[in-house]
Amino acid sequence: MKILVTGADGMLGSALCPELARRGHEVRPTDRRPLAPGTHPLDVCDAEAVSRLIAAAAPDWVMHLAAETDVDRCEREPETAYRTNAAGTEHVVRACRQAGARLVYISTAGVFDGQKPSPYHEGDVPNPINVYGRSKLAGETAVRQYEGVSLTVRAGWMVGGLERDKKFVWKILQRLERDEAVPVVTDKIGSLTFTEDLSRGLAALIETRHTGLFHMANRGVCSRYDIACKLVDYLGRQGVVIQPVTSEAFPLPAPRSPSEAMENRRLDELGLDLMPSWEEALRVYVEHYRQLAGRTQPAAPVKE
Ligand SMILES: NC(=O)c1ccc[n+]([C@@H]2O[C@H](COP(=O)([O-])OP(=O)(O)OC[C@H]3O[C@@H](n4cnc5c(N)ncnc54)[C@H](OP(=O)(O)O)[C@@H]3O)[C@@H](O)[C@H]2O)c1
Repeated sequence: MKILVTGADGMLGSALCPELARRGHEVRPTDRRPLAPGTHPLDVCDAEAVSRLIAAAAPDWVMHLAAETDVDRCEREPETAYRTNAAGTEHVVRACRQAGARLVYISTAGVFDGQKPSPYHEGDVPNPINVYGRSKLAGETAVRQYEGVSLTVRAGWMVGGLERDKKFVWKILQRLERDEAVPVVTDKIGSLTFTEDLSRGLAALIETRHTGLFHMANRGVCSRYDIACKLVDYLGRQGVVIQPVTSEAFPLPAPRSPSEAMENRRLDELGLDLMPSWEEALRVYVEHYRQLAGRTQPAAPVKE
């Protein structure tokens, strides 16, 4: 199939595009600031450009990954968040409708308020507590207008991409590398989502005829502290101290919900859940990290 990907040079796209190509799909990667050779420039905020490119490419699928993912920037600059995550998604939906393309939208566990004591499933009612979550939920609403030919897939705490990893796990790895004591919060729980596992799951899902809303995260629930302790184990850095702290130690512009834990209920019911446990996902990621650390040159260009 012919598949156009937005936000292709980000954390998820850098795993998804090779996975789709490996399965024999014709991949058309796009991003607002292309990095990889072959990525076409496309800013999803530019409605005209989105329509033009999707019409010209005539893809079977558009996998819409492009988003403003910096949660604190979204809080400080709500206009940027809504322009990218809500209006940008509306542009993609409209262009898919015109071109007759099917659509995958990647959403987030951040649409929930985190008050539920057990993991969230697809039937739970979203109630986002920050601008990022609200803008991504607005994107979900836009995609629902394109029912029957679209998939919304919610992911958890994303990990992957090595030098392109902008998130928590990469930051911890860097600090462990410097043998620094690391304070890590114990009062936020979630579901890790390794980009390579998610990419395989997404590629498998579009090969079925299913549509609608899915959760897709690695199995199990962990705190940020649990993740940091596992990283110490897997790296064999037992000498480094992971200090348990509460989130009061890290005041941030955007509120974070206490739980972003998810279960892949719909995938489970359909017998389609390919996601390994979070521990296994992290072990494989650390293995990749060790291989990267063994190299002398950076493996891939990085967005500053
Ligand atoms: N990261 C997470 O923890 C997480 C969790 C759950 C769901 N998600 C969702 O998963 C998807 C992929 O996220 P990711 O983790 O791969 O994030 P990412 O690394 O930030 O990748 C997003 C990509 O989209 C690009 N982009 C931003 N604004 C754009 C625009 N206006 N037009 C075109 N491209 C634009 C970014 O470019 P710049 O680098 O130049 O901004 C980046 O290359 C997103 O929809 C995100 O909301 C992420």
